[in-house]
Amino acid sequence: MNSDLTRRRRLARTALPAAALLLIGSAVAVQSSAPAAAAETTLRAAAANAGLFFGVAASPNRLYPIVGQEFGQLTPENDMKPDRIATSSGGLQNTSGADTLVNHAQSNNMLVRGHTLVWHSQAGALQGASQATLNTFIGNAINRWGSRIAYWDVVNEALEDNNTGRRRNQWPHTMNRDANGDGDFFDPGDTDVIRDSFIRAKQVVQAGGYTTKLCINDYDVDGLTVQGGVRNRKADALYDIVSNYRQYIDCVGFQAHFNDNPNSIITDDLQANIQRFADLGVEVHITELDIDDDLSNNDIGAGQAENYRKVVRACLNVERCTGITVWGISDSESWRSSERGLLFTGGNGNYQKKAAYHAVLDELNKGRNTTTPPPSEPPVDPTTPPPSEPPVDPTTPPPSEPPVDPTTPAPTTPNPTTGCSATVSALDAWTGGFVVTVRVTATTAPISGWSVQLTLPSGSSVTNAWNADRSGNSGTVQFSNVSYNGSVNAGQYTEFGFQGVGTATGLNPVCTPA
Ligand code: G3I
Repeated sequence: MNSDLTRRRRLARTALPAAALLLIGSAVAVQSSAPAAAAETTLRAAAANAGLFFGVAASPNRLYPIVGQEFGQLTPENDMKPDRIATSSGGLQNTSGADTLVNHAQSNNMLVRGHTLVWHSQAGALQGASQATLNTFIGNAINRWGSRIAYWDVVNEALEDNNTGRRRNQWPHTMNRDANGDGDFFDPGDTDVIRDSFIRAKQVVQAGGYTTKLCINDYDVDGLTVQGGVRNRKADALYDIVSNYRQYIDCVGFQAHFNDNPNSIITDDLQANIQRFADLGVEVHITELDIDDDLSNNDIGAGQAENYRKVVRACLNVERCTGITVWGISDSESWRSSERGLLFTGGNGNYQKKAAYHAVLDELNKGRNTTTPPPSEPPVDPTTPPPSEPPVDPTTPPPSEPPVDPTTPAPTTPNPTTGCSATVSALDAWTGGFVVTVRVTATTAPISGWSVQLTLPSGSSVTNAWNADRSGNSGTVQFSNVSYNGSVNAGQYTEFGFQGVGTATGLNPVCTPA
């Protein structure tokens, strides 16, 4: 198991008493066919025992003790959405609710899922923004919480309703361009807000050295089929996106809001669908689980508790299904309270467990079915990309991307005598545009500030920069440190980036310590 997943699992467990931790250590190999020797009494502990997190969506006014007791992961239900925290220029505002939730999670040793960066709905001041502005927001949001966010929903609900398998046609998908008209956005010359947002997010994560994983999240993508055995085209479209952009995407979220809508039911091929995404090497999460308590048209025709059991089992049976999150604590406080879709009744901190709760706990306590791994499951660490996978490199264009101009990146110009050097550490170029990452290294002694000057080719200009203040857009452009990245120790480096139109050939950045 890689150390990152080990750390995450450890984190999900650490609020447990020592005795429970001992039990966890010895119970990982529990088989699904037999109850665990000593059943855990909370969802959090039972899930940790099985090697996954069990989480909840929460708001700052509902951080009752049950949150840390029953759940090992927290998703802000509303407090990290663009309409709460984004300014029209991609800055941050009103982050106090999100900060409260992140702090609460941290002090209760819970993982956090950031929700969400790019979304057609609840876009607030970002509605209609350009990719450059979205990129600014992505950078600001990721950098604010860094590795305190284990998973970010980078792109949410990109696909259309009604099982068409198409992208939405609302903003931000209006930025998409299908150059050859073949119906996808994966070809040379195509523009894809999903790709470009993930590229940006991956750059920020790598530049910051964060452990954060980057996810795409959607609803009605749960089964291979929908009601009546019709192929789930929305799930297939999501699969195509993850396949094409695997180098930037670490995890896939199935929202799993199950109800009587023909495209929203629980089908028997849920596990097979989780499995096929897992086989791409990404983690799969059930991210917003709630189940209508009256699924009269559901093809499995069972009660709510049995439906919950079925979903939990499907995840447990796929090793790379590493987490389940319910979308709230109790029915009365849910976004769909009339369908009574959650695990508790009651409210305001006084909650009562439902039959569905006991079914989930029981299923979690049975552990993963490790006796009969699905044949397609490769015996590798869930977070490790398959052997054939190229190493993740956000600066590498997707396969369909035109090759980067061989005359770039620009030469390195270290200035050891001045105390800092600047190099182009990454360049992502496409027809008419580019993203450049510049590395600033303190060469001989610590520096407490820096500025970098470079000259763009004629006709090119900068549209957006991150991790630096900028002066000028074209010709000679100057970048200087912002408050959090001016101090660099000798031999260490920090990075900033910028996006522009035109070309970025022949850049020769020169660093001056402040
Ligand atoms: O807080 C204000 C309150 O001050 C005001 O009086 C009231 C009047 O309408 O609105 C309150 O805000 C509401 C907020 O929930 C908090 O309750 C918003 O109007 C309402 O739109 C918002 O709904 C949220 C919805 O996303 C839209 O963002 C739901 O709580 C939330 O559960 C739901 O979550 C989404 C996921 O993000 C994405 N997947 C689907 C899921 C369910 O729709």
